[in-house]
Amino acid sequence: MPTSIRDQSRPIGMFDSGFGGLTVARAVIDLLPDQDLVYFGDTGRYPYGPRSQEEVLAFSRQIAHHLRREYRIKLLVVACNTASAAALATLRRELDIPVVGVIEPGLRAATTVTRSGRVGVIGTVGTIGSRAYETALTHLAGPDGSPAGAELSVAACPGLVEFVERGETEGESVTLLVRRLLAPVIEARVDTLLLGCTHYPYLARVLSDVMGREVVLVSSADETAFEVRDLLVEDRNPGRVGRHTFVSSGDSGVFETIGRRLFGAELVGATEHRWDGEQWD
Ligand code: DGL
Repeated sequence: MPTSIRDQSRPIGMFDSGFGGLTVARAVIDLLPDQDLVYFGDTGRYPYGPRSQEEVLAFSRQIAHHLRREYRIKLLVVACNTASAAALATLRRELDIPVVGVIEPGLRAATTVTRSGRVGVIGTVGTIGSRAYETALTHLAGPDGSPAGAELSVAACPGLVEFVERGETEGESVTLLVRRLLAPVIEARVDTLLLGCTHYPYLARVLSDVMGREVVLVSSADETAFEVRDLLVEDRNPGRVGRHTFVSSGDSGVFETIGRRLFGAELVGATEHRWDGEQWD
């Protein structure tokens, strides 16, 4: 895997099951405004969370190869925890470009922030069931090189992604569900809550209200963007304004409407890509 890239004629590729990865896209665009970026939201097949690892792996491979072939991406960001858990290792083996996931960067950020060492991790059923965070913790070193010490309390949160995909990021129904799903991490008295699903930063207000102000919410977006920046240190062009392309496997009009509400007015002209039995090999 090349460690640094120099090619401003090719975009960064990024994908998620839907709108969640836009939280990572925002951080990457803010940090690297000169870079072109292609974002693929697989809204035609979301949510990934309840699907098997095999299915999420197949979808991830299909999207990655599509982005590589059609957009000649120079680097891929798997902006989805469920897909990172199921597919990161395979994509790194298969692709001849660097592939960045969100699990390790998020965990690094959370273990740096915690004071008590008690970290809550919330994610989809697929992510939590894969035990990807527990595995990542065993590989993670702290700032001084010693193993990062943290006690993880994990909770699967089925149903939250659907609220975000509908553009419903606050209100009584989502608050009630969050209160029920977060009970185990509240009970574990964590001081840091890692949002182990890229959709969840859009629910930050509700999550913070339920957890209490003393608990720090951590998302993987910024730390992932720093990792991307490190791979592109020799590929900067200050003053250039990058082009941002948004692709959706569902209805592009819906993607644009809800995407703009979540991401902001810069999200214009989403392209629709229907899979229609397309293969990746
Ligand atoms: N944003 C995806 C993640 O980070 C959500 C997966 C889903 O579609 O359920 O896991």
